[in-house]
Amino acid sequence: MLPSSSSIRDRHPLNINPDVPLPTILRDRLTMEYRTQPETETIREGQDVVLGLSATPKSLPPKYFYDDRGSKLFEAITQLPEYYLTRTETTILQNCVSAIAARVGPCDLIELGSGSSTKTRILLDAYRQLNIHLRYVPVDVSGSMLEETAHLLLQEYPQLSIHGLVSTYENALANLPDRIHPSRMIAFIGSTLGNLALHECETFLGHVSAALQPNDHFLLGIDLHKDTAILEAAYNDSQGITAAFNLNMLDHLNWRFQGNFDLRHFRHVSFYNTRDRQIEMHIESLRSQIVNLRSLEFTATFATGEKLLSEISRKFEIPEIQETLSKHHLNAVETFTDSQRWFALILCQKKP
Ligand code: AVJ
Repeated sequence: MLPSSSSIRDRHPLNINPDVPLPTILRDRLTMEYRTQPETETIREGQDVVLGLSATPKSLPPKYFYDDRGSKLFEAITQLPEYYLTRTETTILQNCVSAIAARVGPCDLIELGSGSSTKTRILLDAYRQLNIHLRYVPVDVSGSMLEETAHLLLQEYPQLSIHGLVSTYENALANLPDRIHPSRMIAFIGSTLGNLALHECETFLGHVSAALQPNDHFLLGIDLHKDTAILEAAYNDSQGITAAFNLNMLDHLNWRFQGNFDLRHFRHVSFYNTRDRQIEMHIESLRSQIVNLRSLEFTATFATGEKLLSEISRKFEIPEIQETLSKHHLNAVETFTDSQRWFALILCQKKP
């Protein structure tokens, strides 16, 4: 969630404990920027929940997965034997980063959804090894995660400068910090693009393209269409971590909006929709029940077997996504994949 106390475009150097100033060498290399939505644009908190639960069929935005417990559960998912995505993308990155660094050269690297920057370090390492300067602009809605990560990175990478942007992707793309290098690269890895419905995906790519000048780069990580059994195993792991992650969304709503979802009366359901080529995660009601969200003054009724859509995770085909990118003036200049063709990293360049 965005910190509500800070104002729009409040820039300040990192200073976690104001009594203990950071050494100058760190402070001068880091700027933190908190970009909250202007009041007038802000949808009342939880309005998206009310809308989603009033619709037929019901749905909730995937962002409600990620409270503290949800973020930890997702970290655990990335380690699961069945969840091949993170592991596969990491391997591809390790194999292609020096090619990317050599081709792109010095730049401002904007990473959307940076999280703990684990995979980003692979790219930072390549830049360091080739002795190419980089400014890192991580964008994340979690300010605490961003600050902690930035602090660690500054110590690990003595040449790196960081401009942390606590913001939604939309807001960040519309107003990126001025360039310090002539060239810019936007990175959106981890297959988060798959969470966007087709029309949202088009809008998003339009904003990415608009934030780039001719010859700037866009690095996109996407999960690929594959055998149903492999996909369904990745979203129905044997240890039940994905189920806990899915149901945690209800717990999150309980504490955030004074709700009374009883998790014992819901279950995790996920399957591959082969027609739309997307994993669908649902929360199914095991009985007919009424749920209250007190702070939203909202009541939802569930029938037995009624399903609430909590996430789609689209699986792409390389030629199809390349065509989509091309419509947005993003030319795929290099496409990297693993030996099983399970995942792809596409390096695009904005057309002149
Ligand atoms: C973080 C969106 C890439 O879609 O695979 C993992 C989230 N959901 N298990 C995905 C998720 C269920 C994940 N992304």
